[in-house]
Amino acid sequence: MSVATAETAKDVAVDFEFTDSERDGLAKELNSINANPYRTYDAFLFQVRVLIADGKVPERFVRFSESLVDRDRDRDPVILVKNAPIDRDVPPFDFDEPVRSKYEIKKTFIAEAFLALFAELRKTPGIGYVNVNDGDVFQDIYPKRALSESQSQKALKEIYFHKDLANHFVRPDHVYMLGMRSNPVNEVYTTFVRNIDVIEAFTAEELEQLRRPNFYTPFDDLTVYGGNRELGDADQHPVLSGETDIRYFENRTVGLIPEAEALSQKLKKVLHNVKERVFISPGDFACVYNNHAVHAKEIISIGSEDALRERWIIKSVNVDDLAPHAEHFIPGTDYLVNG
Ligand SMILES: [Fe+2]
Repeated sequence: MSVATAETAKDVAVDFEFTDSERDGLAKELNSINANPYRTYDAFLFQVRVLIADGKVPERFVRFSESLVDRDRDRDPVILVKNAPIDRDVPPFDFDEPVRSKYEIKKTFIAEAFLALFAELRKTPGIGYVNVNDGDVFQDIYPKRALSESQSQKALKEIYFHKDLANHFVRPDHVYMLGMRSNPVNEVYTTFVRNIDVIEAFTAEELEQLRRPNFYTPFDDLTVYGGNRELGDADQHPVLSGETDIRYFENRTVGLIPEAEALSQKLKKVLHNVKERVFISPGDFACVYNNHAVHAKEIISIGSEDALRERWIIKSVNVDDLAPHAEHFIPGTDYLVNG
């Protein structure tokens, strides 16, 4: 078990909460979509757009989503919405093949439609990767036996601090996570650290060192496991680039020279001093600006191993603009990354 604890971390602030009647009304509208997002994604997205155009989304939520364009990404990189519409009472998936099991068991797509709806309202399109869940835009943070010890969305236990797909040539700007099932008998937290709080903890000379390409991080477990396309070796890279972009995977990123390794160790300590946490309950929707914060899954205590195997969050990764990534898409698609 990790020595890290989320026990004393501050709770993430709530930005928006649906009333029960808003939630139920929107769930009903989203449930009227009759295209399967895993089979006919284009039709699914088309129907979500029609729903928006027809004014079926609570006005308060439309205004909230649109207001995010002015949000300070550095200062407020985590968005938390509560009581969002989701599919209720979906039976647990098979631990050996959770994704295949989902295709068979889950026949309504309210959660997926909500993620697509928010992506549309915010103008942040979702993307899929051929190497991750065979290109699905909607993916599950759901344990899988073969990957239970990995550092991936299919892990059973903790996942150390990281940004999503940091090594990938298409790096998402946003990560959207919608809680589907969690049992409070297990104290499992999603924790976040603002990059500006990390930077604050280092001296100017140290920041200069962090900007040099003296670090190495292996490819994400999931991109490698997917195996649809060879990716070659991960590059040497700086930890800090641009204004505040931090590329670091706790316990995986190593410094290739002693000074760099010392900074990597210091960074790990800093993360745990400044983190915030959220216990993602069903209907809790947490979004993070992937280039302005890092996130982790931390476990304080386990009351039920069985419940831990059924913990479920639906996620998508999204971008501000498709155009810069167009050369990497599978020809004929505008969302599917060839890698
Ligand atoms: Fe992640």
